[in-house]
Amino acid sequence: MSGTTNALPSHPRFVSLEGGEGAGKTTVLDALRAALREGGDEVVSTREPGGTPLAEMIRGLLLDPSHEPPSADAELLLMFAARAQHVRETILPALERGAWVLCDRFTDSSYAYQGGGRGLDVAWIAELERRVVGLQPGLTLLLDVDVARGRERVRGRDLAPDRIESERDEFFERVRATYRARAAAQPQRFRVIDASRPAAEVAAEAVRQLQAWRAGA
Ligand SMILES: Nc1ncnc2c1ncn2[C@@H]1O[C@H](COP(=O)(O)OP(=O)(O)OP(=O)(O)O)[C@@H](O)[C@H]1O
Ligand SMILES: [Mg+2]
Repeated sequence: MSGTTNALPSHPRFVSLEGGEGAGKTTVLDALRAALREGGDEVVSTREPGGTPLAEMIRGLLLDPSHEPPSADAELLLMFAARAQHVRETILPALERGAWVLCDRFTDSSYAYQGGGRGLDVAWIAELERRVVGLQPGLTLLLDVDVARGRERVRGRDLAPDRIESERDEFFERVRATYRARAAAQPQRFRVIDASRPAAEVAAEAVRQLQAWRAGA
């Protein structure tokens, strides 16, 4: 582990994609993976909540709209239970053998959704991050797009919205504002990408940012 600018250690080959619904995270991740593999590097691409069999089961519990919704506290703890498992079973072993890890959402999502969106205590989230996660991405690409446009894209993609996708616009405005504030506060880790542009342009800028990071890492 390396990195001294944040309280938590970071790893240069650990890269996360963040942003609201329909920002294009999954689309961009595919382009980043292809670019790194072209250079011959091993790449593990993964997602949250999820990324191990147990964590994917927790994802199912979190997103399934058919049972009673978890309380905000239960949602936060389930997110961190999945993340604790993901870090230990998938992310750390990959980093330790020298692979790149591309993660579709990571702890910033908990600050944005459970902190900004649901209004949970940020100090509690930070405590969970310190105790059960213990590392940060070296680079986080924040795909920023206005809420209405992102939701429109998801509506075009999904047959039925999951539980979190069914939240109101105000919720997603708070999520977006929290992401932007975190990016502004941690400019050494975050790159903010205007994701309102066509998918190919967004992906090309993300690849440029990653290559620039890789050259310096
Ligand atoms: N820049 C773009 N312009 C237009 N459409 C896009 C763009 N990026 C992605 N899309 C399309 O919008 C939809 C959402 O994209 P994607 O699934 O990559 O977003 P996401 O951020 O991963 O969403 P979620 O938060 O739901 O996982 C997909 O159908 C995708 O093809
Ligand atoms: Mg996605």
